[in-house]
Amino acid sequence: MYEFARELLQNQKHRWLVTGAAGFIGSNIVEALLAAEQEVVGLDNFSTGHRRNLDEVLEVLPSEAASRFTFIEGDIRDRETCARAVEGVTYVLHQAALGSVPRSIADPLTSHDVNVTGFINMLDAARHAKVERVVYAASSSTYGDEPNLPKREDRIGNPLSPYAATKFMNEVYADVWARVYEQPAVGLRYFNVFGPRQDPDGAYAAVIPKWVAAMLDKAQVKINGDGETSRDFCFVANAVQANLRAAITDNDTLHQVYNVALGDQTSLNQLFAMLRDKLRNLGHDYPHDPEYGPFRKGDVRHSRADTSKAIDALGYAPSHRVEAGIEAALPYYIARATADAKV
Ligand SMILES: NC(=O)c1ccc[n+]([C@@H]2O[C@H](COP(=O)([O-])OP(=O)(O)OC[C@H]3O[C@@H](n4cnc5c(N)ncnc54)[C@H](O)[C@@H]3O)[C@@H](O)[C@H]2O)c1
Repeated sequence: MYEFARELLQNQKHRWLVTGAAGFIGSNIVEALLAAEQEVVGLDNFSTGHRRNLDEVLEVLPSEAASRFTFIEGDIRDRETCARAVEGVTYVLHQAALGSVPRSIADPLTSHDVNVTGFINMLDAARHAKVERVVYAASSSTYGDEPNLPKREDRIGNPLSPYAATKFMNEVYADVWARVYEQPAVGLRYFNVFGPRQDPDGAYAAVIPKWVAAMLDKAQVKINGDGETSRDFCFVANAVQANLRAAITDNDTLHQVYNVALGDQTSLNQLFAMLRDKLRNLGHDYPHDPEYGPFRKGDVRHSRADTSKAIDALGYAPSHRVEAGIEAALPYYIARATADAKV
């Protein structure tokens, strides 16, 4: 999946820090960077990520890749840990955060500590270490109540949840650090990223892994609202590509923000039908219809990105549309459900 990374980074050898390395997107970035023969430091405190994600990455790569990977178990809320992690690093790809709108509504202060204080800890550690560029995970939730579609980077509304507020604060601080300290930074506003290693378990699981797990289990799939809520679902390889391009592409401004998605809109009803069809093709029939419940607090109703800024400025060229991404992700979830069933 990550041959493109080797091509993109050929003739370049850097030391990269990936925070949130044991998480879903972070572990995919680690895989791509190691596949491209880079030196990688991973930082994670395993709060929502898993050691098995890193084990899986090392399993699919040639054994020498492990010698280019250093893992630090630590917390971005701890400044000394951040300072240690950025030593000798050229690029920071900052993914560590507590995701999920409902989690942030249940516990806004912890989301703030990790997503805002942890973020500026990393940004400041990068500044002191003279890191060339910090690329960070921003979020489409920053569009909040802005009603126009497609979402354009320069037109945002009010955040609808504590999580959205923390991700907006990342952009505010990155902008300030760029102007005051001349620390280059790029924010990537991810739109509903999905793919292998996204956690299907727990109360705050994302919709695709959660539904696939339920379908494989023949359990009830629950839709919040009428199912016409829509999202711009983005396969993880596209998000990984955006990170690498955002780090290495020449850029004469110190802080920029880019949408990372496909520019496609899929309703939850369409997503349900697509997943059921694709699973049926793989021999996993799902016999139930979804159950509809109340709308969820803090959720944006419709989402679709204008991706032209990333395409024009970064050369972002998504490799997987939604269906292709789902086809690439399903074997992972089927294998994982089979392995879990044996435990
Ligand atoms: N997945 C999406 O659709 C999506 C959309 C928009 C933005 N994002 C952002 O992308 C980033 C990665 O998300 P993900 O989906 O891979 O989530 P994830 O939960 O799988 O990964 C986050 C990782 O950060 C680690 N982490 C959390 N708090 C930490 C701390 N205090 N110190 C060190 N590590 C810590 C977790 O253990 C986990 O491994 C996050 O910043 C998230 O807000 C994700």
